[in-house]
Amino acid sequence: MTKAIEIALFLHLLGVAVWIGGMVFANFCLRPALGDLSPQLRLPLWESVFARFFNWVGVSVIVILLSGGFLLSQYGGAHASWPLHTMAGFGIVMMLIFGHIRFAVFPRIRRAVQAQKWPDGANAVATVRRLVIVNLVLGVVTIGVAVMSRGF
Ligand code: HEM
Repeated sequence: MTKAIEIALFLHLLGVAVWIGGMVFANFCLRPALGDLSPQLRLPLWESVFARFFNWVGVSVIVILLSGGFLLSQYGGAHASWPLHTMAGFGIVMMLIFGHIRFAVFPRIRRAVQAQKWPDGANAVATVRRLVIVNLVLGVVTIGVAVMSRGF
């Protein structure tokens, strides 16, 4: 393995760890812990948590895309094994879902919090949660497929 491939794989896995780890923490630790708070407290808190977390995910997505693209080019590009293409495909779907969360759903949370429309905010947070679960499942499957690619 050349140094460039090692560095790219390191950055790729760091990006994956931040993104998947953050989703696990938000969904399985933070969300249940905030369940008893009133919407007036809970929704501004989610807005502020998401504003920070989505910046981290945005950087991770760029790092995963650049390092993954580089790795793919080193592993044969269009002729790379099918698990690598599957990883890239799932990765891109995950990124599109994140884009939808960040640029379509998150602004709805912001607007609802500013206007103190708590039911609207709660609906938007529930939508984020559903999409995050989809991305978590896709992420875990993608990691499995990525590891499988070693046998091809
Ligand atoms: C555009 C998106 C992506 C591309 C083009 C891409 C491409 C690649 C390539 C070419 C490798 C090197 C494979 C090897 O070392 O045998 C790799 C490794 C890996 N990728 Fe991705 N990837 C993408 C997204 C993702 C995502 C979203 C995840 C996880 C959620 C992921 C998880 C992994 C893992 C765990 C490895 C290490 C596999 C191993 O070395 O056994 N990748 N990726």
